[in-house]
Amino acid sequence: MQKKIMLLGSGELGKEFVIAAKRLGQYVVAVDSYDDAPAQQVADEREVINMLDAAELDRIVAKHQPDIIVPEIEAIRTERFYDYEKQGIQVVPSAKAANFTMNRKAIRDLAAKELGLRTANYRYANTLEELQAAVQEIGMPCVVKPLMSSSGKGQSVIKTEADVENAWNYAQSGKRGDQTEVIVEAFVKFNSEITLLTVTQQNGPTLFCLPIGHRQERGDYQESWQPAVIAVDHLAEAQDMAAKVTKALTGAGIWGVEFFLADEGVYFSELSPRPHDTGMVTLVGTQNLSEFELHARAVLGLPIAEITHERNGASAVILAHKEGTKPVFTGVEKVLSQPKADIRLFGKPVTRPYRRMGVVLTYDVPGSDVDAVKERAMELAQQVTVEPSL
Ligand SMILES: Nc1ncnc2c1ncn2[C@@H]1O[C@H](COP(=O)(O)OP(=O)(O)O)[C@@H](O)[C@H]1O
Ligand SMILES: [Mg+2]
Repeated sequence: MQKKIMLLGSGELGKEFVIAAKRLGQYVVAVDSYDDAPAQQVADEREVINMLDAAELDRIVAKHQPDIIVPEIEAIRTERFYDYEKQGIQVVPSAKAANFTMNRKAIRDLAAKELGLRTANYRYANTLEELQAAVQEIGMPCVVKPLMSSSGKGQSVIKTEADVENAWNYAQSGKRGDQTEVIVEAFVKFNSEITLLTVTQQNGPTLFCLPIGHRQERGDYQESWQPAVIAVDHLAEAQDMAAKVTKALTGAGIWGVEFFLADEGVYFSELSPRPHDTGMVTLVGTQNLSEFELHARAVLGLPIAEITHERNGASAVILAHKEGTKPVFTGVEKVLSQPKADIRLFGKPVTRPYRRMGVVLTYDVPGSDVDAVKERAMELAQQVTVEPSL
């Protein structure tokens, strides 16, 4: 049966979700703060609004009367979701999940205090003085993050006392909204970090994808690869934690659950109640169903018979370096001339420094050297450049 889906946030992840939903015969209204965003280019209808404005959200929900609301980003007036649920609209994965994950405090306290998951030791601070005291308690090095932020915005590492004031000011300049409070976390000396894509279903068990390894720089992922080779007991621990936290947040859909793997064990870090950017690696056929296809099925309550491992794969990002519009790519032919390589260009109309404009994808047979697959993705991504033409 056809449902009307309202997608809130229309970036590259939303675009792939829309394609998956359209393949299943669904109707999609794609919403973003600017026109011609990637997902809007493939959707049935579009709306351009400020999604942090409750009245604007209410207006388009009343206008389109969606059956399902699928958030693609955090920066939405998510408090309204509880009301939409009461009106009978399915919020993905749930109003609770969207609300808890848009604020680091809610999700961290749930994970650490309520569920007893291992996380980095942490404190909160509302002023510079409180931050100084919190740093004393946590010890250095430690990481400071605004409670509301994403993509590493406003996030910095304190190594010496001299860094504290800068960290406070940086957090204030990078925060989303007007909440000044920050979280201070002990720096985890991890050996690697992973995303565990987890699928919760309306009628069926919770499913796990193979772990995805990734490397972060300036708050955004640079390369991701699947499967990440990790210890069996680490995987079991991560799966157990992912099952617990997704169950507590309720609802059906895919989740990107982030973990740090350290000598002393597995740390829960945070999670996205939606497809994860590092999961774009699944677009190269690492699994029988990509993370977007899994999300679409889970959201629609359609069966997922199994998730199978089909290839080893990697993704590497293509970043812009300048401000401008109408980006032109060079080097695409070079990528496509290579075997077992592919590319996704997102169609973003505007460039700015470090903005992600596309990904290079590489793969090989299961059992091949994942590191070599990743190296190939990195080398090919280096060959692609993006320049604004206006
Ligand atoms: N406590 C920590 N110890 C070590 N590294 C961290 C810590 N917190 C964050 N990081 C690093 O910063 C990245 C981004 O942090 P994260 O909490 O995931 O913020 P965001 O919401 O911006 O993704 C992580 O993927 C990790 O590489
Ligand atoms: Mg993260």
